[in-house]
Amino acid sequence: MTAEDGFFYRLTVDDASIPVIARGSDRVGVTVSRTLDLDVAANEAATRYRPSAILPHEHWQPIDGWTTCTGQELQCGKLFVGVLPGPFQRGGLEAIAQEVRDSIESAISSGIPPVFSDQVREAEAQLLLWASAIDPRREIIPVGFNMNCGGRRSLTADQKGFHLGLHLDSWDGPSFAGREARTNRVSLNFGPGTRHFYFMLVPVWSMRKALNSPGELDVSAIINSYMRLPIDHHVFRLTVPPGAVYVAPTECLVHDASTLNSDKFCVTYTIRGHFPFSFRYWQQ
Ligand SMILES: [Fe+2]
Repeated sequence: MTAEDGFFYRLTVDDASIPVIARGSDRVGVTVSRTLDLDVAANEAATRYRPSAILPHEHWQPIDGWTTCTGQELQCGKLFVGVLPGPFQRGGLEAIAQEVRDSIESAISSGIPPVFSDQVREAEAQLLLWASAIDPRREIIPVGFNMNCGGRRSLTADQKGFHLGLHLDSWDGPSFAGREARTNRVSLNFGPGTRHFYFMLVPVWSMRKALNSPGELDVSAIINSYMRLPIDHHVFRLTVPPGAVYVAPTECLVHDASTLNSDKFCVTYTIRGHFPFSFRYWQQ
C-alpha cells in the first residue's frame, strides 16, 4: 500500500454525469480506448460472437484529469463506476478461487450443482454481510460465483455461448423506462488472475437523446444505433486485481469484461443491490 492509497480520486469526463472513482494507485490502471471495433468476426481467437457484436479497439491509453477527493466531496448515489478495495486481504483468496473453479468445472461436466466447502461458504457469508451494510435498502441480490478463463477479450455470453461484446444488463427487466432507479452491482475478484471491466460513460437515456428518436424504446436498438454513430466513442477500462471490487450501474451503462492480459483463470463473486459511494464504507 502506498501513501496515495489513502486518497480517493474522481474522474469526470466532459459533461458526463457519472463519475469514475478509484483509490490511490488503482487509478493508474484506468485507461481509455477511443475506437470501437464494429461487427467483430463471428469467430475470433476461439471465441464465438453474436452477429453485430461491438468491442473496444485494443489500444488502451492512460488518462489524465483525476482530482483528489476526500470525505464529503465524494458522497454520491449509485450512478458511479469504481474500482475499490474489497473486504478481504488478497492472501486468502486463491485457495477459494481454486476450489470454486474445480467445483464449477465439475458441475459443468456432471450436471450436478456445485457444492462448496465451509471455507468458501464462510467467505460468501462475509461478503454478503459487507455488501448488505453498504446498501441502505438492505436489498442485496447475490448473483454468485463465476469463473472465466484467462486470455479472453470478451467474457459475457448468452445461453448458446455467443459472446455479446458491449452490452447492457437487463436483470431488472427489458424495458427502457426507469433505468436510473435500477440496481447496480459490486463484483469481487477472487483471483488468481487480474481482470478488466470496461464500459462507456454515456448512459442509455443519453444515447437515446443523441439519436433523436424519442419513440425508440428497445434498449438493444438504442445502444446498437448509438455505437454506430460517426462520433468519438470512448470506452474506459478498469484494472481489477485479486482482492479488489468494481462497482457499476450495468443496467445503465454499456459494458463488458476481459481477461485478455492474463494467462490465469479468474473467479468472481457478484452482488446486485443499491450501492452508493460512501466514504466510510470504502475507506479500508
Ligand atoms: Fe453485463
